[in-house]
Amino acid sequence: MCGITGYLGFREAYPIVINGLQRLEYRGYDSAGIVLTSSDKKLKLYKTKGKVSDLKEIVKTKDITGNLALGHTRWATHGIPNDENSHPHVSNSGRLVIVHNGIIENYDTIKKELIKRGYTFQSDTDTEVLINLIEEVQIKNNCKLGKAVQLALTNVVGAYAIAVYDINKPDEVIVARLGSPLAIGIGENNSEFFIASDASPFIEFTRDAIYLDDEELAIIKLGKKIRVRKINDDSIVKPNIQELKLNLEQIEKGGYDHFMLKEIYEQPSAIFDTFRGRLLADQGIIKMGSVDNNITKFLNAKRIIIVACGTSWHAGLVGEYLLEDIARIPVEVEYASEFRYRNPIINKDDIVIAISQSGETADTLAAIKLAKSNGAFVFGICNVVGSSIARETNSGAYTHAGPEIGVASTKAFTTQITVLTLIALKLGHLKGELSNSKFHNYLQIMKSIPSKVEKLLTVSAKVEKIAAIYKDAPNCLYLGRGYNFPVALEGALKLKEISYIHAEGYPAAEMKHGPIALIDESMPVVVIATKKGHYEKVVSNIQEIKSRNGRIIAIVTEGDTIVKEIADHVIEIPETEEAFTPLLTTIPLQLLSYYIAVMRGCNVDQPRNLAKSVTVE
Ligand code: F6R
Repeated sequence: MCGITGYLGFREAYPIVINGLQRLEYRGYDSAGIVLTSSDKKLKLYKTKGKVSDLKEIVKTKDITGNLALGHTRWATHGIPNDENSHPHVSNSGRLVIVHNGIIENYDTIKKELIKRGYTFQSDTDTEVLINLIEEVQIKNNCKLGKAVQLALTNVVGAYAIAVYDINKPDEVIVARLGSPLAIGIGENNSEFFIASDASPFIEFTRDAIYLDDEELAIIKLGKKIRVRKINDDSIVKPNIQELKLNLEQIEKGGYDHFMLKEIYEQPSAIFDTFRGRLLADQGIIKMGSVDNNITKFLNAKRIIIVACGTSWHAGLVGEYLLEDIARIPVEVEYASEFRYRNPIINKDDIVIAISQSGETADTLAAIKLAKSNGAFVFGICNVVGSSIARETNSGAYTHAGPEIGVASTKAFTTQITVLTLIALKLGHLKGELSNSKFHNYLQIMKSIPSKVEKLLTVSAKVEKIAAIYKDAPNCLYLGRGYNFPVALEGALKLKEISYIHAEGYPAAEMKHGPIALIDESMPVVVIATKKGHYEKVVSNIQEIKSRNGRIIAIVTEGDTIVKEIADHVIEIPETEEAFTPLLTTIPLQLLSYYIAVMRGCNVDQPRNLAKSVTVE
């Protein structure tokens, strides 16, 4: 979490870096800061608790000139969000500056050592410790800054993406990464460089970028080619310059009030893009290179273990239903944070599927490394191209959902489920679990999903009215069965994270084992009651809620008459195969959370305490 960005070149750095910070604000928004330097070698440092917009206010009357700048937007780890703990941080001499995304785990030991040597600290952060360690190492070894950063980092335990410079050398920036992402944009003839946690801050300036790998350090010097080396063994790495495919419209709001709403509305095209070139319904084929190339492994897998966090974990649960039901492969779904520490049994014939929108989630990354070290084949389902998880996995499939900026995951969820559905259908067919005719029929139905989502989005106005009725509810229950149990969990997560209403998701039948005690006339209960998903049983559950005066918002299949009689509100989804309903039932739940949060005056795209990319464990 935290976003870092920087500029070194011939333009004024401030507008580039401040704009970049705004694009990176999804990564953390507890505080923001910028440091600028020009040829006069002065340090212009401005930072504040709060958002990038607060920082912009503060600098209005300040000197913001300079062709070199580093910026930071923070998601607090060490030290509360206040001005002192905001980045950039400066070394004791006032010479070295740093921005940092990550955690230095052994900072306390290092800090004590530095204090013994006379260093003082203004903040409670691990980052201020690191910049002083770099200074100490440089003085002790009388070496260049690049070498000092490298030596200092060999003493550090933790995760980092850092950018450091010396105000006396305004033509050079040192960057390094371990566990947190870092991209470098390269201007024509090395006349300018851009540094950022992802490429969004610089796509309008250059298409050429290097993504640093773990344990790499780069020396960026104006007019020179970037030099990359391994931190631990000092070996030289040939930088891999990639061409960025991202475009500017994709990372802007495009007329919507919030990124979340835009991303909800993008789902028909996002799902279609996930299909593109893969779902060849008319030829009766699912073509997925990464599965095809490893087909023996998939077909011989004794078990699939899915690891993920949050919404991606919910997609994993839908994957469990799909892969067991359609492909008849045993599946376990694990929270990556638990899996990595609980000494799990991983066999050589297991396939581990890691799901992550950002591709940077620290726990998921660690779970992948553990699975690989135990000999498992690890397949990734990621959205962000070139992300750490995409690179760490043995093989994988991108969701191609496009950038997801709203902190609450929406299109990432449905496109992850889309990939899992394609894999389940493909394996089910190849294993003979799905007959040819059923397979072909499923492909045609799957193909129609984007247009069904499109149609479903027209319920928006109705959902908005329902939201107005329940926006002040203190609690909310979400119930679903089978394929729609994970959707109930996801619906509850969406509501709590953006509206701060307490919400819980349950398998509908579990209600009578406890949660039913909560039901009274003030409790809205969202029930997913699609036609083929244990419909009669869910109807009984709805009756049980009704007899206890609960308020029912039911998601039903078009044309339903029974639930309509009992529920307070019904939202209809187009008819489809039960296995594909999560792709539809999710949509009204996303809209419901969105409208409730907006009506409660919450910051939908940047809910409190959260960040889009959780690069700390
Ligand atoms: C919820 C949400 C989070 C993420 C989780 C995993 O809306 O966005 O729960 O799903 O932090 O993130 P990724 O998918 O990037 O690994």
